[in-house]
Amino acid sequence: MFNGKSIFISGGTGSFGRKFIRILLERYQPKRVVVFSRDELKQYEMQQEFNEPCMRFFLGDVRDAERLHQGMRGIDYVVHAAALKHVPAAEYNPTEFIRTNVNGAENIIAAAIANGVKGVIALSTDKAASPINLYGATKLLSDKLFVAANNIAGDQATRFAVVRYGNVAGSRGSIVPFFNKLIAQGASELPITDVRMTRFWITLEHGVDFVMKSFARMQGGEVFVPKIPSIRIVDLAQAMAADLPHKLVGIRPGEKLHELMVPLDDARMTLEFADHYTIVPSIRFNNVDADFSLDGLGEQGRAVADEFEYRSDTNPHFLTVEQIAALHADIKP
Ligand SMILES: NC(=O)c1ccc[n+]([C@@H]2O[C@H](COP(=O)([O-])OP(=O)(O)OC[C@H]3O[C@@H](n4cnc5c(N)ncnc54)[C@H](OP(=O)(O)O)[C@@H]3O)[C@@H](O)[C@H]2O)c1
Repeated sequence: MFNGKSIFISGGTGSFGRKFIRILLERYQPKRVVVFSRDELKQYEMQQEFNEPCMRFFLGDVRDAERLHQGMRGIDYVVHAAALKHVPAAEYNPTEFIRTNVNGAENIIAAAIANGVKGVIALSTDKAASPINLYGATKLLSDKLFVAANNIAGDQATRFAVVRYGNVAGSRGSIVPFFNKLIAQGASELPITDVRMTRFWITLEHGVDFVMKSFARMQGGEVFVPKIPSIRIVDLAQAMAADLPHKLVGIRPGEKLHELMVPLDDARMTLEFADHYTIVPSIRFNNVDADFSLDGLGEQGRAVADEFEYRSDTNPHFLTVEQIAALHADIKP
């Protein structure tokens, strides 16, 4: 679906953006791929690696509506991956997160509608489901803006949907590179926040694949949630360094013991499909009752039970220590 199309990726130099573009170029022949982000060094380095003629690099900030407007000229599809995402940093710098994650989302929507973009997928996080930290709260606001944008678009063809998933194994600033660094420095123990802690776990490839499919699935207004495994943090530490003891350091500001992707209160809006859940919008767009049970790929979904919740601790699918080690051979230093 991306052959001959122009694709814009905000945050294109990040972990997700780079993997998305690598897979996009392997599978399709896009007309133009626009990377939009702030730091010139990351773009310069990416340019050395991604030198295909379709690549375009735009320096810009999602806080800057005019620059987004320019970058989206002639664009067919937008992936919105730019975000500030470090949980403790958000607690200390709330207004910065609001400017990038919330005002930035608003600017992406306006630029997409003004440029007649066909489809926009915004990346969300499990931390946006019943949020307890500022980062999660900004991502929930962003999700709400993208869902409601289908109404603002009116007769315009632009459709917006959200993809929500959990921790990406090995992404920048996450626990895997943190543990790897400690192990490489010869640490005598690994810090564990709480032995009970669980997290959803997804590989970047799976995330990219899911986002690509979501463009084909979407009608507009959905929050797509992939079915992914959970891990126990102690099992991750064990998989990365079986010989190192664990030191309990306590939960960090704004952290949850377990993560959530579909809260109980959203159960009545949730459909289950073979490999994912879809949270359908609670509002109607342009006074039309849409049927989300049959998606753009022809897949059929069915309502979940009223008491359904998708949580990392009650997830039926947990990875074992061996599976974590095997799945992420790159988690060893
Ligand atoms: N990593 C995870 O575990 C995870 C899990 C669930 C959801 N997500 C979501 O997935 C998305 C991508 O995450 P990621 O792991 O790829 O993050 P990342 O590696 O930190 O990349 C973030 C990207 O956004 C850009 N960016 C940040 N602020 C910007 C701004 N104001 N204007 C323009 N670009 C900006 C960064 O480049 P510059 O700094 O150069 O601008 C970078 O390219 C985010 O929306 C995140 O919330 C991530």
